[in-house]
Amino acid sequence: MTKTLVSGIKPTGTLHIGNYFGAMRQFVELQHTYQPFVFIADLHSLTTIHSKVELQRSTFDIACAYLAIGLDPEQVILFKQSDVPEVTELAWIFNCITSVPYLERAHAFKDAAAKNTEINVGLFDYPVLMAADILMYDADVVPVGKDQKQHIEIARDIAIKFNNTFEEIFRIPEPLILKEVEVILGTDGQKMSKSYKNTIPLFGSEDEITKSVMSIKTDSKNLGEKLDADSDLVFSFHKLVSSEEQLLDLRSQYEMGSIGYGESKKLLLEKLLDYFKDAHKRYDELQKNPEIVYAALALGKERARAKAVEKINTVRKVVGVLE
Ligand code: ADP
Ligand code: TRP
Repeated sequence: MTKTLVSGIKPTGTLHIGNYFGAMRQFVELQHTYQPFVFIADLHSLTTIHSKVELQRSTFDIACAYLAIGLDPEQVILFKQSDVPEVTELAWIFNCITSVPYLERAHAFKDAAAKNTEINVGLFDYPVLMAADILMYDADVVPVGKDQKQHIEIARDIAIKFNNTFEEIFRIPEPLILKEVEVILGTDGQKMSKSYKNTIPLFGSEDEITKSVMSIKTDSKNLGEKLDADSDLVFSFHKLVSSEEQLLDLRSQYEMGSIGYGESKKLLLEKLLDYFKDAHKRYDELQKNPEIVYAALALGKERARAKAVEKINTVRKVVGVLE
């Protein structure tokens, strides 16, 4: 039987190449191997975004991005999380079997609580809604970057707890985290993240991408000196968008000192723009033709709900709220 893949991205801020290489590329590569459910986690965004305009804009942009990178809406069940309200009911049921001290141990909560004492309940409960997203569709695998690993572990624990408490109806999902791209670094050498302002935007203008690439931090070696490919941040980005041959060639230029950081950045910029050329073109077209995007989401909504309604009815019966 075809296995199921489930993953989502929350619409906050601008997508970056860390999102692409860490997670989104896997959605595209695996879309024909699995039955994929890929969604826009707009309810998760409400934990931080309280602007209707901003939420709608980011939601639409992620939908465009999914289609532009090559997800086929006939093959992939592509939808907006909030279009399947059954998921919040499932999250509530999971809330009732999840303890507060258990959720207090989550990294994301601890980090947020360290910065801000006025944490909203949604942020605290974030992993439970995410567990509902994953378990609702009987996910076998969940492709994500390493930062989401603990959230998948929580989803597994909740599935086990539910199965032991009521009846065995939930599949235990596995994270799918690719070692080479589990953490893509940002232009400052920390993890690339919207929160750190160190991103290379996935669908930025040529100017924006140029600015980001030129800002990649390097050491202070002079032109003509040998460079160390393995510790250089610019080289780490080349690895993402180069062929084996191009990489070997660049490595030897580094070793000979025949290329400087400036030139390496220019080369990287060319490769990046070329790598994402088709996706950028499709993205621009979709931005101008929103009806294509909304039609894809409407189709996904129907198919996702069909599955969710069936599952939630089983859950309702098993917990005793439905005869
Ligand atoms: P951000 O950290 O910028 O807020 P998100 O939390 O929205 O990004 O992440 C969306 C998806 O992209 C998740 O699957 C996450 O694991 C992945 N991801 C985000 N940043 C990176 C990164 N620097 N390297 C690898 N994967 C990443
Ligand atoms: N928490 C994920 C992120 O920040 C988004 C997300 C919500 C998700 N629900 C999910 C990812 C279910 C995978 C599966 O990117």
